[in-house]
Amino acid sequence: MSPPAIIDLEDLGLDRGAHLLIERALSALPVGGHLDVRGRDPALGVHLRAWARSRGHSYVESQASAILIRGAADHARWDQAERAGGAAPSETVARPGASWGLAARGALVEAGGPPLHFDIEEKDLVWAELAPRLYAQAAASQWDPATAVDWSAPFDLAPEIEAAVVQVMTYLVENEQVALIVPARFLGRIHPHFREVLQVLAVQAADEARHIDVFARRASLRGGPLGVSGAGGRASLATLLEEPDFALASFLLSVLGEGTFLSLLGFLETYAPDPIARRVTHLARQDESRHVAFGMAHLEHQVVLDPALRGRLRAAVERRHDALLDTVGLNQEVFDALVIMAAGAWTPAAIARGYAAVAALQAEMGEGRQRRLVRLGFPHDEASTLSALHTRNFM
Ligand SMILES: [Fe+2]
Ligand SMILES: [Fe+2]
Repeated sequence: MSPPAIIDLEDLGLDRGAHLLIERALSALPVGGHLDVRGRDPALGVHLRAWARSRGHSYVESQASAILIRGAADHARWDQAERAGGAAPSETVARPGASWGLAARGALVEAGGPPLHFDIEEKDLVWAELAPRLYAQAAASQWDPATAVDWSAPFDLAPEIEAAVVQVMTYLVENEQVALIVPARFLGRIHPHFREVLQVLAVQAADEARHIDVFARRASLRGGPLGVSGAGGRASLATLLEEPDFALASFLLSVLGEGTFLSLLGFLETYAPDPIARRVTHLARQDESRHVAFGMAHLEHQVVLDPALRGRLRAAVERRHDALLDTVGLNQEVFDALVIMAAGAWTPAAIARGYAAVAALQAEMGEGRQRRLVRLGFPHDEASTLSALHTRNFM
C-alpha cells in the first residue's frame, strides 16, 4: 500500500505538522517524482515553497494545488552515514573511533558531527563478555540503605568493643571512598560504544556510595567520635588514585584490593559483635564480589590477547610496593580493632583467639590473591611473591 502521489492535507498547515504527511508521501517517490499537495490552510503555498527549498525539493504552483518534485538532498544527507556497530553487545566493534561520539550503539550516524575523543577507545582494553550479565545482576541487586538494614535493632556493647567497631567502620569508609573515585574517574574516559562497561562501572560507583553511607552510619550510630585515619593507610589508597592505566588500576583495585576485601568483609560478617555491623558488611560483600568478578573478567580477556600485560601487572604491584616501602601499611589501630572484635572479651584466652583469627584472615587473604593471580596466568611461585608484595592496608 503506497501513499498516493496526490496528498490532501485538509486544514493541516506546515506550522502544525503537515511536513510529516508530505515527507511520508515523498519517500514513496523516486527522485524527480511529482507529488500533488492539496489543502485549505491559507498559508500553505507560502510555507510549502520555503519548506521545499530548505529540503532540496522543487516547487511548482498550479491553479488548484502545488506540485513538489522530489530532490536528491534527503538521500544525500545519509550518503556518508554509517552504522555505529550493532545494538547487541556481540556487535561492538574493536575501535569505534571519534566520529560516532555519543551516538547510540547501532544508530545510523550522520556524517559531520563534532568528533569526540575518549582516552580509552579500544574494545580489548575494557571489554568483558560478562559485562552485560554483570550489569543486569548489579541493577537487580540494588538495596536501599534505609530499609535493607534494621537500624533500630537492639544491641549493647562494652565501650571498648563499640570503639573497635567504630574504628573498623572509619577505616572502611576511607577505603570505600577510593573504591568510588577510581571507577568514577574511568567512567568518563571510556568510549560510550562500550556502554555495558560504563553501566557496570556506574553501578559499581553507586554500590560504593551505599557502602560509604552504611559504614559511616554504623560508625556514628551510638554518637561517639569516629576512629583514626592513619597516614600509612591513606598513602596506600593514594597510590590507587595515581594509576592512570585502566588495566593496571582495576588490577590493583578490583583484583587485589577488593579481592582482599572479600575476605575482610567475610571476617567482619562473622565476628562483628552487633547485628548492624554484621548486616552492613554482608551487604557490601555481595556487591564487592561483582566488582572483583568484572575486574577479573576483563583482565582475563585482555591477558589472552596481550600476554605482555602480565609483565605490566607485575611491575605495577612492584612499583606500588616500592612507593609504600616507608609506610606502615595497615594502621595498628585497625589491626587491634579486628583482634578485639574477634576476641569479644578482655581475657588473655579471648585475645589469643582474636589474634589467631586475624592471622587466619591474613592467610586467607593471601590465598585468595594467589588464586586470582594464577587465574590470570601467573605461575604459582610468582603469584605467591606478588601476593606478598600487596599493600598491608588490604585495599
Ligand atoms: Fe565497597
Ligand atoms: Fe567495590
